[in-house]
Amino acid sequence: MRWRKLKGSFVLGLLLAGAELSTASSRGVQQVFVSEDPCSSIGGKRWAYPSAVRSCFQSFPVDPKLKANIIEVINKTLAFHTSTNYQIRAPEPFSSEVHEDVVGDLARISKQPYTSDFDLHIDLSRTLKRLNDGHCVYINYCYDALFVSYLPTPLVLLADSNGVQNVHIAPEAFSVISAEFQDQIGYWEDALPENLSLDQLSGAKVLLIDGEDPWVAVEANAAITGGYTAYGTRQNSFFSSYSLTSNGWYYVMGNFAQQTLPLYDSRNLTIIPVNSSEVRTITLPYRSRFGDLSVDFADSASFWDNNCRATIGTNGVDLRSSSETELADIYASVSKLEQQPRISFREAWQHRMNVYMDARPTGDMDLPAMLQPSKKPLNGSQGVAQFYMLDDDITGVLALGSFSSESFAELQKSLLVGLTSLKNSGATQLVVDVTNNGGGYICIAHWLHRIISGPRASTVPQAGLDTTTRAGPLARLIVKQVISGADSNYTSSYDPTQWTFANHTPMPEGYDWMASPVKTVINGREDAFSQRLGQECQPFDMRPPADPLFDPRKVAIVSNGRCGSSCSLFSITMAKEDGAKTVVVGGKKTVPQQYCGTVGGQSTGFFHIDTEIKTAGLKNHSLAPPDFLTNSVQGITWRLGYGIWDTEQPEEWQYHPADYNLLLTNATVNNPVAIWEAVVAEVLS
Ligand SMILES: *[C@@H]1O[C@H](CO)[C@@H](O)[C@H](O)[C@H]1NC(C)=O
Ligand SMILES: *[C@@H]1O[C@H](CO)[C@@H](O)[C@H](O)[C@H]1NC(C)=O
Ligand SMILES: *[C@@H]1O[C@H](CO)[C@@H](O)[C@H](O)[C@H]1NC(C)=O
Ligand SMILES: *[C@@H]1O[C@H](CO)[C@@H](O)[C@H](O)[C@H]1NC(C)=O
Ligand SMILES: *[C@@H]1O[C@H](CO)[C@@H](O)[C@H](O)[C@H]1NC(C)=O
Ligand SMILES: *[C@@H]1O[C@H](CO)[C@@H](O)[C@H](O)[C@H]1NC(C)=O
Ligand SMILES: *[C@@H]1O[C@H](CO)[C@@H](O)[C@H](O)[C@H]1NC(C)=O
Ligand SMILES: *[C@@H]1O[C@H](CO)[C@@H](O)[C@H](O)[C@H]1NC(C)=O
Repeated sequence: MRWRKLKGSFVLGLLLAGAELSTASSRGVQQVFVSEDPCSSIGGKRWAYPSAVRSCFQSFPVDPKLKANIIEVINKTLAFHTSTNYQIRAPEPFSSEVHEDVVGDLARISKQPYTSDFDLHIDLSRTLKRLNDGHCVYINYCYDALFVSYLPTPLVLLADSNGVQNVHIAPEAFSVISAEFQDQIGYWEDALPENLSLDQLSGAKVLLIDGEDPWVAVEANAAITGGYTAYGTRQNSFFSSYSLTSNGWYYVMGNFAQQTLPLYDSRNLTIIPVNSSEVRTITLPYRSRFGDLSVDFADSASFWDNNCRATIGTNGVDLRSSSETELADIYASVSKLEQQPRISFREAWQHRMNVYMDARPTGDMDLPAMLQPSKKPLNGSQGVAQFYMLDDDITGVLALGSFSSESFAELQKSLLVGLTSLKNSGATQLVVDVTNNGGGYICIAHWLHRIISGPRASTVPQAGLDTTTRAGPLARLIVKQVISGADSNYTSSYDPTQWTFANHTPMPEGYDWMASPVKTVINGREDAFSQRLGQECQPFDMRPPADPLFDPRKVAIVSNGRCGSSCSLFSITMAKEDGAKTVVVGGKKTVPQQYCGTVGGQSTGFFHIDTEIKTAGLKNHSLAPPDFLTNSVQGITWRLGYGIWDTEQPEEWQYHPADYNLLLTNATVNNPVAIWEAVVAEVLS
């Protein structure tokens, strides 16, 4: 890209694009054709046309050096991802959902030419997304969510009084957009016919999207959105939902109304507005808003410099020579796209995490006031954990938006205080709402399972899943370095003192736990994993109650299916071992709904793996990934949990069918209290 900076104009960009210049010369135009810099028209703008954002993105040709770098980093990082060979064809029942040979596809991408760096990015991003694994995701902040494109019509799937499901514009659509997009309302109003206004769209039944059955669009999204193995769960991402964050109840627009890349300019909707029988077809343009995490720019050169180069937190650090303040700064930017509150380096390093990763910004769009719980949150409520008692005075509710929190200890305490108070107040049954809960601290998942279910075979000593980690040659070398003293002030994930044997007894200091890896063949490829690891969370640093707080069979775990990572560890052990009920809300009736997904065991990313490699003094090893040159992130599953029903196979691809699929109506959709009451009526009574 350097030549572009030196030139300072866009003449060469046009030469590459070709078309306009040749038109100019064929007309015999004598002037030097200097186009405007395609990035300067969107630089400094809060709102832009998706087409303008696209022109900026597409103006950068592929730089072979950067392309090779990205592919090498991803490829060498994947050697630490537990699931690469499984995902070539996932075990049944998910073989038709996951069949991506990612290493093979990287080889294809290396050879394939692309019109622009943006086109290369789309192929890379979608290739990784085809793993349908929210832990193993490739993000490049140069493009992903740099601008986020919105429509004013989040969609929902509602059942009518006969239980027939139809796609609708969310009844709350106008409340949401008039609070969030005040400055764009007029723009969208202008796109509508004169006798139709934006507020009249709320609740409308959607007959067609772009002239076709709405399910065509739902399925097109499910095919490329990634993140979850199960088809039903990926379908659900199309629709709007809510999420409890450390800053309150947020609205999630869904993939139809919110896109992280500017690929669509507009959508046609054929609708019947509420209280009308007239079929209307409207065209609504997407508007692209500058992302909250994007760095301002003025032109192509500053766009690239500010947003596309590796930055603080992209690459790992050698912990042997990093100060606490340096690490704090770095970590602030590392966890930015993980679905969790910002946490400190020390918390993240001390408490192992299992977190879903998404280019979708967690956003800051409030759930409209009329949909927020009007009940007062009870004792123990804080941040992502809120406790309520329903009007029946026997159903307690734990709304848990995440298993992460700025402070591990505070979240741990809040769960104990909140559930104990609910029990003391007379609650005999419990609804746990984990809608859009992308996981977090592994040991919080174990803790929550243990305190609800009490001490029993499924919770003591192991309240989660046994695991294994990939034992590639470089991983094994890191263990050797760590046990011979390369560890720093922060305990390495490769340090044996972090782990227990399969029988849950701690590994001794200096023990080479990867000396004899378990060799196996998966989908015809040779692979190697560590010995089976037991639990590492107990004894907890807080004393759990001697008795169960709730009868687990009277616990209903509720979500839109998008409960991943540590949220899966919690739900699976509660459901499969202790008989908790599982409920998905709003899924399509005819499609099997899974109550969770993206199980993993422990997730991490390039930054952490690179930190392990650098701290072990192995960065010069031929298998070590180089530093990223671009503003990129590669996530991986670092430990993979063994199954509960089939204890010798990963839980990741075992079945997690929800006991109930609670259809949403215009009275319950995106209304947490109404959903909890419906769950009590259908599931807990
Ligand atoms: C990826 O790594 C494997 C070794 O693990 C190597 O055989 C392959 O050539 C690499 N692919 C690319 C595209 O570099
Ligand atoms: C809500 O759904 C019911 C039953 O399907 C219907 O009669 C009513 O008109 C709907 N109300 C709105 C505002 O869409
Ligand atoms: C709105 O205008 C269109 C044509 O401009 C007309 O066909 C339609 O009947 C009008 N609808 C209402 C509800 O006024
Ligand atoms: C949307 O409708 C317009 C006419 O109003 C049409 O020109 C366009 O092709 C349609 N787009 C799609 C994707 O159906
Ligand atoms: C539809 O009609 C009902 C009954 O007249 C009214 O209560 C409701 O507010 C109307 N809804 C909309 C969106 O106009
Ligand atoms: C690690 O320990 C060394 C020596 O005790 C100290 O100088 C250094 O600042 C520590 N680093 C961190 C990140 O705590
Ligand atoms: C809630 O907390 C208050 C103050 O800590 C305490 O007095 C009260 O007993 C608690 N309520 C329950 C139900 O535990
Ligand atoms: C890697 O190799 C280079 C050149 O041989 C050397 O300068 C550097 O110190 C080495 N780095 C490490 C971490 O060993």
